[in-house]
Amino acid sequence: MADSPTSIISTQGIQLQLLTPSQRSPTLVPTETKGVVYTKRWVVELLLELSGYSPETNLVDALAVEPAAGDGAFLGPMITRLLESCRKQGRPLSDCSNSLLAYELDEMSAARAKYVTQSILADLGVQQPLVTQLAESWIATRDYLFDTTGKKADFVIGNPPYIRLEDIPEESAMIYRNAYPTMRGRADLYVAFFEAALRQLTPGGVCAFICADRWMRNQYGAELRHLITSAYSVELILGMHDVNAFDNEVDAYPAITIIRYRRQSATVVASATPQTETIQPKLLAATLQPDYRRKSSRHSPSIHAAVVNNWFKGSDPWPCHSPKQLSLLRRLEDTFPPLEMNAKVGIGVATGNDSVYITTDPYLERVTK
Ligand SMILES: C[S@@+](CC[C@H](N)C(=O)[O-])C[C@H]1O[C@@H](n2cnc3c(N)ncnc32)[C@H](O)[C@@H]1O
Repeated sequence: MADSPTSIISTQGIQLQLLTPSQRSPTLVPTETKGVVYTKRWVVELLLELSGYSPETNLVDALAVEPAAGDGAFLGPMITRLLESCRKQGRPLSDCSNSLLAYELDEMSAARAKYVTQSILADLGVQQPLVTQLAESWIATRDYLFDTTGKKADFVIGNPPYIRLEDIPEESAMIYRNAYPTMRGRADLYVAFFEAALRQLTPGGVCAFICADRWMRNQYGAELRHLITSAYSVELILGMHDVNAFDNEVDAYPAITIIRYRRQSATVVASATPQTETIQPKLLAATLQPDYRRKSSRHSPSIHAAVVNNWFKGSDPWPCHSPKQLSLLRRLEDTFPPLEMNAKVGIGVATGNDSVYITTDPYLERVTK
């Protein structure tokens, strides 16, 4: 990874220009800037549940990373869960100083994230200087993509920035591309965030993101899909096209992805409906587990979901918009041999003959209506 001081400084420069910090208000009111969208609380809680970042487990001895903290939409609930886990184990809060690491490039956002952190700690009765010490060790005002700590993480959770390649100066895009080989073609910056997160995971560790889902099907996502199918398990893809996942309007179709560093097992492919938001996040997360889906054949209007037992291979696209269609497709593929094994398949390119014709005549070369 390119980590020379010059490359760090120059990439910070681009990102800070893109984020136009001078236009941002110093208050805690979220403001919209390029690549910046803020996640709603129910979506944050759902992601935390789905990733297993739960106070019932030992979060103190784990490392959770928030790679693009913004004002702290994820960080706040993560801190609350961490402190609860610490309390349940009867351990001192000072044991948590290495349990969380949140990155934020924009200084004003980082300052707001620190303010949120300090408020949560003070509300819980934590005294100075521990409040300041924890906030300082948890929040890093620097580029996640050029992190040089080399720390392995058990959880990487968040909502990476969406910045199109054309909005990044070529010279700077080169720096990111050199550091992250999956950033190919016209790849958006979030592709690099996925790669960095996945490479940072400990075995069994999980990357839980809400992010634009274009990379799952398009050309620029091919290398990322290849990386994922080579070593990771896609546990859940939850399409969020029909719900309001963010505080501001976004012109991207988002999805939640839960990807774990282990061998691929079953995947739940689901899409949220406008009613999804009314379900309690813990309950919703439980209904999105493969075992639950296998047992429950009930159709629910609040979520559409299917279990896929064989995930895609290599860099094949992941056509996940309709869970039902995808599950049927996989079942047909599992049950029957490919059509090409017993038949010749031809396509009438640009002839206008776009119906399906089936013939047993092996000599027939041209079919007309
Ligand atoms: C999509 S927002 C998400 C904010 C917050 N996590 C949320 O979900 O509400 C992405 C954030 O990433 C920050 N950011 C952009 N590039 C970054 C980088 N290379 N390293 C760290 N943070 C970055 C932006 O300043 C922005 O606050």
